[in-house]
Amino acid sequence: MRTPTRRESFPLSRLEGAPMARRKKIYEGKAKILYEGPEPGTIVQYFKDDATAFNAEKKDVIDGKGVLNNRLSEFFMNGLTQIGVPTHFIRRLNMREQLVRSCEIVPLEVIVRNYAAGSMSKRLGIAEGTQLPRPIVEYCYKDDALGDPLVTEEHIAAFGWASQQDMDDILSLALRVNDFMSGVMLAVGIRLVDFKIEIGRVYEGDFQRLIIADEISPDSCRLWDIETGQKLDKDVFRRDLGSLTDAYSEVARRLGVLPKSNVSKPTLIN
Ligand code: TMP
Ligand code: ASP
Repeated sequence: MRTPTRRESFPLSRLEGAPMARRKKIYEGKAKILYEGPEPGTIVQYFKDDATAFNAEKKDVIDGKGVLNNRLSEFFMNGLTQIGVPTHFIRRLNMREQLVRSCEIVPLEVIVRNYAAGSMSKRLGIAEGTQLPRPIVEYCYKDDALGDPLVTEEHIAAFGWASQQDMDDILSLALRVNDFMSGVMLAVGIRLVDFKIEIGRVYEGDFQRLIIADEISPDSCRLWDIETGQKLDKDVFRRDLGSLTDAYSEVARRLGVLPKSNVSKPTLIN
């Protein structure tokens, strides 16, 4: 038997954080792929470099985005766990993958807004950046074919997407995430304008519990520099405002997820 070459003994796919081929793919979304996890009840969440906007009408591959979002989502989910907000996050596995708890996704996008922006500004004619009188929570039905339409609690109850108890829990989770994320961002000079989360249902014996699932990253938040108003989130891509990796790296650097000297390259510390 011949000795394997260096490349064979250290497969590049491992080094680059690409998914291991033998894992069974469960689902591929626009920015992530889900694989069967190593133990029952677990899933491996792989962060792609793909960026999409306007229901995938606009697409690109942004070098390093997946690596940054994997790290940033880990950072936020760990913080939430520390303050007692349950999440699906178990641990980061490598540059692009994290182990998460498998859960049933509630078919809603839960949006919390502190300042008017994006679709709310358009819909209601409120200038972007206007502070809202209080955080406003919106629900969209998760269906790409329909463009994730805004729905009310009446639709949610009538179509059985979530119970009244679920809705009470979802609202309180969303507001806790908002307070946590607003504070973390404020501490590094960033305004949390709005964000989107997804909620998972897990079963424990006869009981069910709701947890934060999916990801929390600059893909799913609006983040503006407090001093300059500079956008540090996916609007940079949606609106062609410059380098998305630079923007996400800046967020990561301020939060201490990236070394200070490395602003634009996603070379990450452990
Ligand atoms: P919107 O103003 O476009 O409705 O977006 C509100 C927030 O939700 C914003 O932080 C971006 C985030 N978002 C997603 O995470 N996924 C989406 O598909 C959309 C449309 C928005
Ligand atoms: N991620 C969504 C898409 O491509 C939209 C967005 O984030 O703007 O469809």
